[in-house]
Amino acid sequence: FKIRDWKTKRTLSECVEFIHAASLTHDDVIDQAEMRRGRESINISVGNKKSILAGDYLLSETIQRLSNLNSIELLKLTAQVIKELSLGEWLQHELLKTRNYSKDSLKKVCLYKTSSVMYWCALAPSFFINNNVQGLQEKLQIFGDNLGLAFQYIDDVLDFKKATGKSTQIDVKNQQLNMVTFHHLKRLNKLEEFKSGGDLKSIIEVNNLGEDILLVEKEAHVHLENCERILFEIFEDLQVVNDSDIPKTLISLLKQLKSRSA
Ligand code: FPP
Ligand code: MG
Repeated sequence: FKIRDWKTKRTLSECVEFIHAASLTHDDVIDQAEMRRGRESINISVGNKKSILAGDYLLSETIQRLSNLNSIELLKLTAQVIKELSLGEWLQHELLKTRNYSKDSLKKVCLYKTSSVMYWCALAPSFFINNNVQGLQEKLQIFGDNLGLAFQYIDDVLDFKKATGKSTQIDVKNQQLNMVTFHHLKRLNKLEEFKSGGDLKSIIEVNNLGEDILLVEKEAHVHLENCERILFEIFEDLQVVNDSDIPKTLISLLKQLKSRSA
């Protein structure tokens, strides 16, 4: 969207970074991470207590800055997203205890913990443009949901790859199934063994994950195709006819992501 006021644009960009950073400062405590973005994670450098406080501070800063934009709709959206982030982590934690894993429960975790921030990015600017396009916000939500699912599935794959700047196989260490290990255990008929208390590290066959990684990458690819389809629908709805109006960076980014997950 072309928001004319650069201050609004800047605030929205800053605030999504703050929400994301706050979720990660809490997440690294919960996951007992050791590394983030190639450096020691915040829980290691300043400890758990300060990490939680830093996240709380960033969230409050977010609410304060967004309030200055005078959009109650934006504040409602933000509250919804912060709630969903917490619900996603809560559900993930519950699954750790109950081990009641299913594709649906894992997908729900991804929608809450990852898609929520993505649909915030898609929807937030729409409150600052003049539009009377029917169903636009629903489409933006679907775009964000699909982008989040694609992102999280690839993140689950990256848990098994080196040199990502993050701790590797942390989900396995934490006895937490993700999309890759879920498909893996299902394919090996070992899901029940895990659900009834088996140790994930001993059950999985680390050198036999290729097929499962491929499957999850394909699923991510389907979600990226959904993103592209819905994006072009949005362009049509907004009557973006002139080529120069099409945000090329977004399209080329989607294409890059798609080729990586193909
Ligand atoms: C990363 O998942 C975690 C999230 C995307 C969400 C974390 C949300 C919370 C901790 C709830 C609290 C929320 C707020 C706003 C303070 P991951 O562990 O799979 O990804 P990683 O590999 O990057 O650690
Ligand atoms: Mg984590």
